[in-house]
Amino acid sequence: MNIGIDKIGFATSQYVLNMNDLACARGAEPEKFSIGLMLDALSITPISEDIVTLATTASHDILTEQDKADIDMVILATESGIDQSKAASVYVHSLLGIQSFARSFEIKEACYAATAALNYAKLHVSTNPDSKVLVVASDIAKYGIGSAGESTQGAGAVAMLVSSNPRILTFNDDNVAQTRDIMDFWRPNYSTTPYVNGIYSTKQYLDSLKTTWAEYQKRHQTDLKDFAAMCLHLPFPKLALKGLNKLITKNLPEQNKTQLLANFEHSIAYSRKVGNIYTGSLYLGLLSLLETSDTIKAGDKIGLFSYGSGAVSEIFSANLVEGYKAMLKPSRLLDLDKRSPLSVTEYEKLFYEEADLDEEGSATFNNYKTGSYRLKGIEQHQRIYIKNED
Ligand code: CAA
Repeated sequence: MNIGIDKIGFATSQYVLNMNDLACARGAEPEKFSIGLMLDALSITPISEDIVTLATTASHDILTEQDKADIDMVILATESGIDQSKAASVYVHSLLGIQSFARSFEIKEACYAATAALNYAKLHVSTNPDSKVLVVASDIAKYGIGSAGESTQGAGAVAMLVSSNPRILTFNDDNVAQTRDIMDFWRPNYSTTPYVNGIYSTKQYLDSLKTTWAEYQKRHQTDLKDFAAMCLHLPFPKLALKGLNKLITKNLPEQNKTQLLANFEHSIAYSRKVGNIYTGSLYLGLLSLLETSDTIKAGDKIGLFSYGSGAVSEIFSANLVEGYKAMLKPSRLLDLDKRSPLSVTEYEKLFYEEADLDEEGSATFNNYKTGSYRLKGIEQHQRIYIKNED
């Protein structure tokens, strides 16, 4: 049975911080960000946007009423959860009006979680061929004002509808995963921002890629020339480019190398303007590739490298399906240009804004711009979400 991604949607914040402005404010050369990290801008969220509003907006854009009747599982992957107990997917399920007899839960392993969610969705559909599973990767990456990771923040959600006979791509059963217990990036419950060993994390990313790729090649007797494109987790695009260059060997024919590097540029077009969206980053790269590359075609094999600090990594592949272009939104780069630019002072204000709870545990928020849904406030410690007027 063919199982894979039938629909894919994306949502990000309505506010954007230009990297040149950040460089200027932090006394860095603009080229450090534009060339050294390959980033042009970061999406910045106000207090009324969170992983639930982003996930719901991304899903709302792709789902029909029939999909909502067919979905029997909602998995939300995140490392920036809003509650230690209740799964964000329960809010998403309710806000979207998905039929009741569905399973909803949240899943975590840093930036790897969405890949685990897709695997679970694939297994579920393999035994329930009429089922559709909504997998949403939703995160707000916040490292801290003035921190080394500040330049690699971002926010966004990628929603993927997994089904049999998908219209975008089919998963191949070739996943190879690796776990290693390391402290490269982690966030204890008492901290709103992560602890990061930045350079160490980049080395672990690259070594996980190298060793997982070697095992993948060994198990599947495959070579880079079998792939039309490789999508790699994008904490910042330059790291993924370093990774791809490590996979490219002297034996790879020049035309394959040229194609892989050209498609790499397509895969980072969105992330360059959005920044790191943690577990959705790999899938934002996939979306960017599918919507901006005009050299890939139905039947092509795409490789994917997922990495989540801590650390779990996985390599797998998927094949494009005939007619996949009709399921995409080629105007997305124009949408990103409609975001409202923030000065560094405005960004810092948004960054530090916190719910000012009264003695009953209630707070209302300013009416910032959000996607189709927003967090209106908190009432007696309960988050209140509403749909914006269309
Ligand atoms: N012109 C061009 N390039 C310049 C430059 C200039 N004027 N100035 C600096 N650069 C280059 C540097 O040479 C460097 O490139 P290379 O690595 O190729 O040498 C690049 O810009 C960055 O410079 P630094 O290493 O000095 O930058 P930094 O101290 O700000 O740290 C970082 C970079 C460690 C990645 C930091 O941004 C960070 O900690 N980020 C968060 C952690 C992270 O993203 N890790 C990735 C792996 S973990 C993961 O993947 C999970 C996840 O999503 C969090």
